[in-house]
Amino acid sequence: MILETKKVSKAFGRIEALIDVNMTVRKGEIFGIAGPNGAGKSTLFNVISGTFSPSSGQIVFEGKDITKLNAHRICHLGLARTFQIPQTFPTLSVYDNLRVGATFGGKIGRELEKRIQETLGFLNLTSFRDALASNLDLYTTKLVMMAACLATGCRLLMLDEPLAGLSMTEINAFLEVVRKINGGHGTTVLIIEHILDSLIDVSDRMLILHNGAVICVGEPNEVCQDPKVIEVYLGEGEDSQ
Ligand SMILES: Nc1ncnc2c1ncn2[C@@H]1O[C@H](COP(=O)(O)OP(=O)(O)OP(=O)(O)O)[C@@H](O)[C@H]1O
Ligand SMILES: [Mg+2]
Repeated sequence: MILETKKVSKAFGRIEALIDVNMTVRKGEIFGIAGPNGAGKSTLFNVISGTFSPSSGQIVFEGKDITKLNAHRICHLGLARTFQIPQTFPTLSVYDNLRVGATFGGKIGRELEKRIQETLGFLNLTSFRDALASNLDLYTTKLVMMAACLATGCRLLMLDEPLAGLSMTEINAFLEVVRKINGGHGTTVLIIEHILDSLIDVSDRMLILHNGAVICVGEPNEVCQDPKVIEVYLGEGEDSQ
């Protein structure tokens, strides 16, 4: 097991965004998270990665309690995440965007240049090395966000809705890259996605959140047949795309 959340809750005033969320992610797997808008998916990423502290509960990464650590300390330990709204440093080159990631990940020194070159090569981004991030298309921007995470040397990569806004061809290409990172690098991947077919396709196991609570976890075929999941996605007319 690489990550565990134990009864994690998060309230924003009266809004209970997460309620007693128990989740275990196994080392080496691709673990998918889905759920309707406002289910608490991004909040779960935010409390795991140290953007917010949970209101209660515990988060354990590689056997270490990270519940109260701040974001850069958690990143140093080997956990990196992307954001739902595509975000790069627009006035920096692709290379420098990765340099920021690598530096945020800490303890790199003379390894820096090598790590960045390797990451650019691994994600087929070498030809974009000197391009300004603001000039990239959405697909390449998303690759650069992911590359900046990998440049931290992370062992757990967390992607928040990485497929939003991409064409079907780009979605398939992006998922191939995710599989390559998972298989080639052995990086564990946690992925939030609204596009259920794609999530089912790429995930080893999945978890469904609804109103801040876990309603189902298991292999994709089990999750799809779960009556609670069917009710959430079909019974309430939620957009499952
Ligand atoms: N910083 C915040 N301050 C106040 N409320 C917040 C904050 N972040 C999230 N929330 C609330 O917490 C709940 C869960 O939001 P969250 O963004 O985690 O959902 P989500 O599952 O990621 O939704 P989406 O699919 O739309 O991205 C929502 O009611 C949201 O309004
Ligand atoms: Mg979200």
